[in-house]
Amino acid sequence: MNYRHAFHAGNFADVVKHVALALCLDRLNAKEAPYRYIDTHAGVGRYDLTSDEALRSPEWRDGVARVWEAERSAPNAVRAALAPWLNIIRGMNSGGLRDYPGSPLLAAELMRQQDALRLCELHPESAAALRLAMGRDKRVKIEERDGYEALPAYLPPPERRGLVLIDPPFEEGTSVRKLDFEWMAGAALKAVKRWPGGTYIFWRPIKDIEAVEAFDGELVSLLIEQGGIAPEKLLVADLWVREIGQGPLSGAGVVIVNPPFGVADHLRAALPWLSNLMDQTPDEQESTGAGWRLETPAPAEPS
Ligand SMILES: C[S@@+](CC[C@H](N)C(=O)[O-])C[C@H]1O[C@@H](n2cnc3c(N)ncnc32)[C@H](O)[C@@H]1O
Repeated sequence: MNYRHAFHAGNFADVVKHVALALCLDRLNAKEAPYRYIDTHAGVGRYDLTSDEALRSPEWRDGVARVWEAERSAPNAVRAALAPWLNIIRGMNSGGLRDYPGSPLLAAELMRQQDALRLCELHPESAAALRLAMGRDKRVKIEERDGYEALPAYLPPPERRGLVLIDPPFEEGTSVRKLDFEWMAGAALKAVKRWPGGTYIFWRPIKDIEAVEAFDGELVSLLIEQGGIAPEKLLVADLWVREIGQGPLSGAGVVIVNPPFGVADHLRAALPWLSNLMDQTPDEQESTGAGWRLETPAPAEPS
């Protein structure tokens, strides 16, 4: 297991995921009643953008750094959509962009005193770093274990309100990558059977559009046919920064189950602006390869 999120923290794929996550949590905050956030693949919590890993990798410069620079001149609807996520980042970085909050820290910053966080991180070094970053927060419990395996025991949460983020590494060029798709679909079905009312965010990379569409079709069929989720309770939000299939990672996005009210409208405002801003189409190419989609996904065709 070699994956280190520090090389990718704050890249375009994190931006899409974290904007969606922050919008969902912001809506959960609209009611006083407590809720729970469960992160099956938590990472280290806080990423130093001046670390060796971040400096060796330019990914965050083409992701969060572009948003940081351009957001103040964005249309109001875009600014409103980005606000829950970006306000946390601005709050952590008064002297200029240096620190990037991973999903658990972003969640902790957005959540209230009455809420709870459950975080799983399998990698021992990353789990230790996560404990260092967030272990003193009384709302937080961290487990160094397989998040897929742990998830069923967390559901349904005692508060009966909340959100589950499933954000595995999908390691490039390893068989684990394919397994992550399988594990994710299996975990999704088990989870919604135990707790159909929860909000779930499943992140997945888009390198090969056919593979992602096959995965989404299968996931959606499982959720609807076996999990009892109504089709209109599903939302796919994707963004790609160059033609899909070109370069290292061209696109990424999330499948959201039970998106809170208003989240789809905010994403519809933000995605076109973000894809244009984070466009990484090679110079020699005439037209942009960047794009986005927001849709209610269709189940796989029966074979
Ligand atoms: C994509 S990163 C998570 C990023 C984080 N969710 C964020 O948005 O800031 C995936 C993390 O999952 C960890 N991991 C890999 N397999 C795991 C498993 N089976 N259970 C829990 N954590 C795992 C990796 O060590 C890595 O830190």
